[in-house]
Amino acid sequence: MNEKKQEVEASISVIVLAAGKGTRMNSPLPKVLHPAAGLPMVRRVLKAAELAGAKERRVVVGHGEALVRKVIEPMGAIAYRQAEQNGTAHAVLAADPASLNGIVMILNGDNPLYQAEELKALIEEFKLSRADLAVVTAVVKNPGSLGRIVRERGELRAIVEVSDAGPDTLKIKEINSGTYIAKAEVLVELLSMVKPQNKKGEYYLTDIISLGREASYRVVGLKGSRNVAFGVNTQAELALATNVLFKRNRKKALDAGVIMVDPSTTYIDDEVKIGSGTVIYPSVTLRGETQIGSCTVLESQVHITDSLLGESCHIKAGSYIENSVLGPRVHAGPYARLRPETVLSPDVHIGNFVELKKTKMGSRSKAGHLTYLGDAVIGEDVNIGCGTITCNYAPDRKKYVTEIGNKVFVGSDVQFVAPVKIGDSATIASGSTITEEVPAEALAIARGRQVNKLGWRP
Ligand code: UD1
Ligand code: MG
Repeated sequence: MNEKKQEVEASISVIVLAAGKGTRMNSPLPKVLHPAAGLPMVRRVLKAAELAGAKERRVVVGHGEALVRKVIEPMGAIAYRQAEQNGTAHAVLAADPASLNGIVMILNGDNPLYQAEELKALIEEFKLSRADLAVVTAVVKNPGSLGRIVRERGELRAIVEVSDAGPDTLKIKEINSGTYIAKAEVLVELLSMVKPQNKKGEYYLTDIISLGREASYRVVGLKGSRNVAFGVNTQAELALATNVLFKRNRKKALDAGVIMVDPSTTYIDDEVKIGSGTVIYPSVTLRGETQIGSCTVLESQVHITDSLLGESCHIKAGSYIENSVLGPRVHAGPYARLRPETVLSPDVHIGNFVELKKTKMGSRSKAGHLTYLGDAVIGEDVNIGCGTITCNYAPDRKKYVTEIGNKVFVGSDVQFVAPVKIGDSATIASGSTITEEVPAEALAIARGRQVNKLGWRP
């Protein structure tokens, strides 16, 4: 029993192949860093691997190494350098598999559609089948350039690459997904036997299947979904993968009771959470770790990144919100811009062409039109008139704060030259340029007096 338990809990490591150039992407970015639905492909692969239980995650890097490291190392993965790309078996060897124990899973860095649940299920199947080595296969309509799975009386025999295949082999629809699971020691032994005996003169990882059989190991093919075999080689395939991912996220939101006018134009990142009864109009993008409460309305062309919105908010068309927190029942837009560190209390109203940055507004305060509020702390029940500007940026290139108390009434076309403080219940006359503190309950007028020159002609 104990022995069995130990076997079931064998450690799982992952080697991700990501050294290739991705010539057909025609792009200056290393292939595996291309984003699929907002996340670099290799990040998605590593995330799926981690969620599937892989403690040790190694990535074989080559082309664009420095950039790839920047993405994978913060995720706790370890980069292994493959100086020259001499084939997929050569790549696995670069990750020093001899230093691994337990079960090793080999994944492709250019498959953004791996899902943790499926990888987990495949590992379970591998364990139950008591195999030494497994390749994950899929049956597809157009096998194209993918390696073909050759079977004999149903038994897995070999993987044949297209460049080495005859016409009968090319007709096979069962293909190599490029995903493998093996006992570490078996993998190492078989890798040492791979020779570059093919048209391309590369060390093919696919050869370990026939080598494993010849060495009398138990080698099996595990059937995976089409997603496991989805390698991105071109921008068109990347766009296809992105589409699949957004579809997944939309379905999740729709199932959770989100109302979408046109789901096909709604773009929701993986980590976004949306409450039920929220209505999303066409062409809305929700990015990063955004959370939206229930019964909120997002009109067309709203773009929200890493922000928290409470329930029953109404964000009107064309608004752009980043790193902000909006309490319940906040109204914003059309065409509002909420820049990082904007914090709006319940029932705040932000109107059209209003920009806020690093600004707090207390409950029920309003800035209805054509206004810039930056580095400001504004109390409750404040009215900010049309055309108000906080002059937060000084010639010393530093930012200064404008503090406005509760129940302040600011008329139209007012400038606050920060740092400046306005007391509770003060009134600021229209057209004022405020440079000095205004006491509570005072009326501040800071503008030239009107002069009427009677009978004047130019
Ligand atoms: C490979 C398989 C093929 C399978 C397909 C699935 C081989 C010989 N063929 O073909 O059977 O159907 O994947 O997508 O394995 N890489 C390196 N270093 C190298 C070579 C490749 O890191 O020296 C990486 C690539 O960056 C890529 C992965 O390995 O992430 C697969 O390599 P690729 O050249 O795309 O192999 P395919 O020809 O697609
Ligand atoms: Mg490929």
